[in-house]
Amino acid sequence: MRTDVIELNGFIVFAHRGASGHEPENTLRSFKRALELGASWIETDVYAVEHELVVIHDDRLERTTNGTGYVMERSLEYLRSLDAGKGERIPFLRELFELVGGRVGINVELKGPNTAKPLAKLIEELLANRTLTRDQLLVSSFNHRELRKFHELMQEIRIGALIVRIPLFYARFAEKLGAWSVHVSSEFINRRFVADAHRRGLKVYVYTVNDRETLLGMRALGVDGVFTNYPELADELAAG
Ligand code: G3P
Ligand code: MG
Repeated sequence: MRTDVIELNGFIVFAHRGASGHEPENTLRSFKRALELGASWIETDVYAVEHELVVIHDDRLERTTNGTGYVMERSLEYLRSLDAGKGERIPFLRELFELVGGRVGINVELKGPNTAKPLAKLIEELLANRTLTRDQLLVSSFNHRELRKFHELMQEIRIGALIVRIPLFYARFAEKLGAWSVHVSSEFINRRFVADAHRRGLKVYVYTVNDRETLLGMRALGVDGVFTNYPELADELAAG
């Protein structure tokens, strides 16, 4: 295992929603596959429902499960009764941490509102029982207010600010947030933004890169990592 990679040095290839190009996204099966494919970091999305953080991308259930309605309007019991693909259940974040057991890094993306506090509580528990170390975590969100809330609760955990397009003042907002990294769509990233972020001491991670050409193009642009549905793409870095 490359601990330098887990420590977020070098070029990082995040398994986006697990190995979601091969298995139903955000299921334990998908994360297991990512581990088998040699991923050093995985990315996942969470909502808070009742007393748990649940792992799912959309705010509605239809696309990825056999359920209906909004995730946050459903009971935990209902959510756990659903098929999230190939007979998999919607995982609890806690289960994902248990599966990974400190072997790879995890980027938890706060999708739902009111996720900062329960995540901080869960992380505190996992750090205390040594299921993981703080270097194995990166917490991100498009919701910068929720992200700031998390940062205020757990200053020692790295945060990444998600954006789609390039803001007027480039990466200034992320520096102000006290972020470790800024995560940008591959459609909008450019050299100027990368230079500005680096000047501010921020890493730049790009989503979602699913082919070799784009991957090599991103590396040539000087970004620090990519999110991909096909974590085996990392092998292309050594080759290309
Ligand atoms: O965290 C990177 C990427 O996952 C952000 O977009 O919609 O796939 O969660 P999305
Ligand atoms: Mg995500």
